[in-house]
Amino acid sequence: FNTIDDLNVAGMRTLVRVDLNVPMKDGKVTDDTRIRAVVPTIKELSDKGAKVLLLAHFGRPKGEKKPEMSLEPVAGPLSDALGKPVTFVTDCIGDTVAEAVARMADGDIALLENTRYYKGEEKNEDDFVDALAANGDVYVNDAFSAAHRAHGSTEGLAHKMPAAAGRAMQKELDALEAALGSPKRPVVAVVGGAKVSTKIDLLENLVSKVDGLVIGGGMANTFLAAKGVDVGKSLCEHDLAETARRIMIAAEAAGCTIVLPEDAVVAKEFAAGAANETVALDAIPSDAMMLDVGPASIKAVTAKIDEAATLVWNGPLGAFEIPPFDAATVAAAKHAAKRTKAGDLLSVAGGGDTVAALKHAGVKDDFTYVSAAGGAFLEWMEGKPLPGVEALRK
Ligand code: 3PG
Repeated sequence: FNTIDDLNVAGMRTLVRVDLNVPMKDGKVTDDTRIRAVVPTIKELSDKGAKVLLLAHFGRPKGEKKPEMSLEPVAGPLSDALGKPVTFVTDCIGDTVAEAVARMADGDIALLENTRYYKGEEKNEDDFVDALAANGDVYVNDAFSAAHRAHGSTEGLAHKMPAAAGRAMQKELDALEAALGSPKRPVVAVVGGAKVSTKIDLLENLVSKVDGLVIGGGMANTFLAAKGVDVGKSLCEHDLAETARRIMIAAEAAGCTIVLPEDAVVAKEFAAGAANETVALDAIPSDAMMLDVGPASIKAVTAKIDEAATLVWNGPLGAFEIPPFDAATVAAAKHAAKRTKAGDLLSVAGGGDTVAALKHAGVKDDFTYVSAAGGAFLEWMEGKPLPGVEALRK
């Protein structure tokens, strides 16, 4: 695909799709990860003399102009991160934008209002996309985390004018390609989280692509139950036992080794510091639930990570938000970070919970690449083409 290097942006009205769908509380941005991610692209375009017009969505206003979903509160933090002024424009199409553009000098930056204020955005309606395109000469997409949406500003615009991937998008695609596209083998995936039901496609795709698959978190219980383990009161989707068996059979056929918990940390209540014990899988009390995996499992997970040249991680191994049930997630994360720092492992992680877990373990910056994308990262792990990325292909 094209990158910014392939575009002539000097003096051009450059429509840049960014993901500014940031966590906000009482009108204040509470996590600026996504803001910082798009700074390099915006700076570069501005330095090259582009008139930078930022397009983004916020929340899910469903085509209505809901004031609480305005992007205006993001302009300040974005300007702070850039060290340059950002003008907020109260619309994303029409005369308001055209007039704002007319007042811009080369290198100026404007943030346009929430694209999802219009129904045409999510429907990718041609009239809406034309209205967006009317205020631009070239298009840059730097929003990997919204690339699983075939929306006007994420997909449609790429067909209307010269289009390229921004630097964050480029970095993300390079990292993902190195992790699952043409990876250095062996590749090990760590997949955790509460439910199998949300990750069936992902697991089915992974078993055909990776050499080892560590399954942890609540979803592992479903696999254990499918193998006949009595998981007591643990979170478990008993109706998915057949699906779990199918995945295990597919893994075996593909030569992918599945690592399941070997012991469990159980408690009678799901609360911080709850009385807990480590038990063998055949000794889970009927009134207790598994909230983390135990030392034997941690050993098996780190041994698997030791075999890997490439690691892909999505989802925590236990209820890491509530100590002490963070032990396995923290140990595995630290181990992967250590091998990465030593130059022995390429490690890619993504998904909201996973980023929080790596932050909690204090190793987020030690992984080779950590994706700020949620849904898009999952769809990529499921092996699905992402419309926003596909549209950028030459
Ligand atoms: C996200 O926050 O994951 C992206 O911005 C996509 O948002 P959406 O799920 O509302 O499309």
